[in-house]
Amino acid sequence: MMMKYKLFTGICCRLYSASIVSMNGASHRHFCSSFLTDISSPETTVTVGSQTYARDEMTNVTPHILSKVGSNLHNRKYHPLNLLKQRIRDHFYKNYVKPRGNPIFTVVDDLPPVVTIEQCFDSLLTPKDHVSRKPSDTYYVNKDHVLRTHTSAHQSDLIRMGCDQFLVIGDVYRRDTIDKSHYPVFHQCEGVRLFTERELLISKFSEQDMEGLTVFEQGPRIPAKQAPHTQDAVVLLEADLKWTLTRLAHDIFGKDIETQWVDCYFPFTHPSWELEIKYKGEWLEVLGCGVMEQEILNEAGAGNKVGWAFGLGLERWAMKMYDIPDIRLFWSQDSGFLSQFKVDDANTPIKYKPVSVHPQCYNDISFWIPDNYTENDFYDLVRGLGSDMVEQVELIDNFTHPKKGQTSHCYRITYRHMDRAVHQEEANKIHALITEAAINNLAVEVR
Ligand code: PHE
Repeated sequence: MMMKYKLFTGICCRLYSASIVSMNGASHRHFCSSFLTDISSPETTVTVGSQTYARDEMTNVTPHILSKVGSNLHNRKYHPLNLLKQRIRDHFYKNYVKPRGNPIFTVVDDLPPVVTIEQCFDSLLTPKDHVSRKPSDTYYVNKDHVLRTHTSAHQSDLIRMGCDQFLVIGDVYRRDTIDKSHYPVFHQCEGVRLFTERELLISKFSEQDMEGLTVFEQGPRIPAKQAPHTQDAVVLLEADLKWTLTRLAHDIFGKDIETQWVDCYFPFTHPSWELEIKYKGEWLEVLGCGVMEQEILNEAGAGNKVGWAFGLGLERWAMKMYDIPDIRLFWSQDSGFLSQFKVDDANTPIKYKPVSVHPQCYNDISFWIPDNYTENDFYDLVRGLGSDMVEQVELIDNFTHPKKGQTSHCYRITYRHMDRAVHQEEANKIHALITEAAINNLAVEVR
């Protein structure tokens, strides 16, 4: 059985274990934020939506990112992410009902994306030194607040409020590479289902057969289960979780897709799995899930229950479903794009047809990197200056001088706008600005 280690899934599928970058606290943070605002700027606050936060040495949100907060693409009528949200919601509403026919899952899709470190990481048992907390990977509003990196950030609060079955849909933010399937803002759907001992057992057994079965014990923590869970509890939760998600994938992608489960790791579930589907001949990872860590439930006042959770990236699903070739299209205001999703029934089959394909142009930039350099600083700088004109930034050469020990990176920046042509001269001008900013703000030495 394959075993993967990662914190997150969704549209962004990098292995976090492989992405640990060298950085040293304070000076790194200086580089992170220095190109976002003029260092000499007197700004002492950051405004996100209608809230204002004190800026501090951890602040690394960029104006480009802040301009996306509040867009709520998942709640925009006729937007493809909204159509997909409706389909997932309707699937759960229709298939999971109380005896009188009311849906059991509550859908929450309007929670603001600024959350505390406690919500995003601590409440989910994310280790203090985990890479997902690093400012190189996460947008900090200040030392106490981040733009949520996943919708799991709301699990504990909703459970504490008494929700036992819910879906959370929202925008999430991660500092990452730039290419056709990665954008620093994307959308996730989280699902949680809790069961009392009786609810879990009665789902599979008759009253008589249930006798003697329990879900809690004080046993060892082993790969197959957590210390407080019985093997029986895990077998039942795993079966219910996998059944629920396979059914969802079949509803959205079609009955004919093949599916497979891969063991993996998340700090907040154990055991954990990823679902892969074979879609048009290609295996694709579509979600992460697992048995919720009992400590999370205990802390949230639901210690008498057990549960499962899953998280999926809406863009990744929508790109496959609708044949959308580039993740930036979700942000397009172009009517040629949006009009293709103007359907009142979310189940209408749609295949996106590109309206116009503009030529690409590219420029390379090579520089010696300083000690505290992280690639995501450069990606944010490019994103800030090139905005949506940059299609991709690729590290095409990584060379360490054998004698000097200095490392040089060469990046190829591909310029192409979704809605209009970008000419080489225009690309050259932006490229010059990027080069200048990299020298001034990241302290690189251009070769
Ligand atoms: N939060 C995880 C991610 O962003 C997905 C997940 C949710 C995994 C719930 C397990 C349980 O990748």
